Amino acid sequence: MADATNQEVQFIDDLENATEFQLKHTPSVQITGPIINVSIGLQGLSHPQTEEHFIEYIALLAGNKLVEKIEFDFEQAPVAVFALPDTDETLVVQALCNLHGLFGAYV
Ligand SMILES: [Fe+2]
Repeated sequence: MADATNQEVQFIDDLENATEFQLKHTPSVQITGPIINVSIGLQGLSHPQTEEHFIEYIALLAGNKLVEKIEFDFEQAPVAVFALPDTDETLVVQALCNLHGLFGAYV
């Protein structure tokens, strides 16, 4: 399996003009106190989670360093809960779709 750090990460640069494809793959990040909650999909859209097409993992990175990675199979809902790290590094959440690659969102 590809690691979180060795393939190109797709970010939405312009949310107003984002495609349905981008919106379905991009992590939705919500911070509540010391907790980061992540699901996949923005603006009411969600990614499929089937045997043929699913989110393989959701990862939290600080700078370029992996903090935590949670893996899923197609029968598991791709949601993740992380502890908010105490760091000055830029936090990024990445999600890997088995067909479409790696998608990111800044925390
Ligand atoms: Fe996909």
